[in-house]
Amino acid sequence: MPSMDQVTDLLTRLNPRLVARLEKHLRKIPAVRAKIEQDTGDLMQTLEKELKPYRDELPRLQHLPAEGQQPENVLESMTALQNRETDSWRDGFVSGAVYHGDTTHIDFLNQVYALHSQTNPLHADVWPSISKYEAEIVAMTAAMLGGEASGDDICGTLSSGGTESIMLAMKTYRDQARAERGIRRPEMVVPVTAHAAFDKAAQYFGIKLVRIPVDQNCRADVRAAAKAITRRTIVLVGSAPSFPHGMVDPIAEMSELALRRGIGFHTDACLGGFVLPWAEDLGYPVPAFDFRLPGVTSISADTHKYGYAAKGTSVILYRGPELRRYQYFTVTDWPGGLYFSPSFAGSRPGALSAACWAAMVTTGQAGYREATRHILETADTIKAGIRAIPELFILGDPLWVIAFGSRQMDIYRIMDAMTRRGWSLNGLHRPSCVHLCVTLRHTQPGVRERFVEDLQAAVEEVRRAPEAEGGMAPVYGMAATLPLRGVVSNILKAYMDVLYKT
Ligand SMILES: Cc1ncc(COP(=O)(O)O)c(C=O)c1O
Repeated sequence: MPSMDQVTDLLTRLNPRLVARLEKHLRKIPAVRAKIEQDTGDLMQTLEKELKPYRDELPRLQHLPAEGQQPENVLESMTALQNRETDSWRDGFVSGAVYHGDTTHIDFLNQVYALHSQTNPLHADVWPSISKYEAEIVAMTAAMLGGEASGDDICGTLSSGGTESIMLAMKTYRDQARAERGIRRPEMVVPVTAHAAFDKAAQYFGIKLVRIPVDQNCRADVRAAAKAITRRTIVLVGSAPSFPHGMVDPIAEMSELALRRGIGFHTDACLGGFVLPWAEDLGYPVPAFDFRLPGVTSISADTHKYGYAAKGTSVILYRGPELRRYQYFTVTDWPGGLYFSPSFAGSRPGALSAACWAAMVTTGQAGYREATRHILETADTIKAGIRAIPELFILGDPLWVIAFGSRQMDIYRIMDAMTRRGWSLNGLHRPSCVHLCVTLRHTQPGVRERFVEDLQAAVEEVRRAPEAEGGMAPVYGMAATLPLRGVVSNILKAYMDVLYKT
């Protein structure tokens, strides 16, 4: 019997499609199954210790307490935990995650939330203020993204986040294509770098996902897109910018192609929707991506990222109310009454919509422009710092989401060395790299310099001890290269099981 390493080595040389077919059979071999279960179990034990740091300090509740606890005691213990978890993001050690984070801004949003905590836009008759806020959030976002200049009636809805906005859009195109073109087996054409939410939409809604490659600059390959479109294609997708490498796809060419072929084009501006318009204003080189391009038929833009709202809101926009109608849900024969909802949820937290509106109107155009200026200046310093380290290179030519890799060193070991210095960066693969998504947290004095100094020290540390034991590097390396993707998927499911352990 060959060792697992030999089997892995052999599998990496085979065609991935063949491996996927072989995997089912391989996993039936008892020795292979036992080895996989053993390795997954060992990994989960290590991760469980990191994921459940309070186990030894606090009771693990498995039942409702017989009597309710005192609110002041509950608040005290919850405050203690939050205090322990705040430093890393507040001080700018975390990639993305918290996009604003100033105490006065947070306190203000919390006040607005508290004022509206009982509201639910499902009952628009009870809380018309919330539907006013939601309509205005959509209108303001549409105007910012070329809505007025487009000459069309750009409309949309609120959702709970980028993933929901993307999924709503894909469902909308599926239903439109079914109704207007009779397409029963729909396909969507999506760059490999587009967010995983497109995979989720494909899985949930039975749409075939056709992934297209990107060029050396990490931008979608337009010729590949043209080839991938078939009679069943319902939508072509581009990112502005993409999550992994922060590059804006060639949206002008792609949306033009979509227009010519009579299909929808979705710009995923979840990350860039509230940055790119202001970056353009400031004179940065921003490729066209919004409704000023006639082929763009929908855009997702996250208010809960660079819109500086609290977590839990995003905007999905459409070129025209006819398209938006395919997103809506109605039921007319339910004994519970006439039912309708614009997005996936039924009841929704109106307080989040109110806080989102409040964040937008207090920030204003000047506030977004200034925030963008700070972010892009910070990113410029960080990019220069990375470029000055000979062992590292930056993928593409990004504005503020900066992915870097190394040809000489294991980039995941460099990430581990950064983790030991307090940084929480994102490990990416295909190709192996790490990114920092710059937010307002990183614009604080000293943060950019500290990042560059720590990165220099981390590279030096790995140069001196390239094979040092421990850390997450072997796990990332394995997850990136293991040909048995079903095994990797099962590891991720085991991880989610751990999250729900008390
Ligand atoms: C480009 C892009 N699209 C979609 C999403 C998904 O957003 P969310 O995590 O809010 O669902 C993200 C998240 O980072 C993103 O960067």
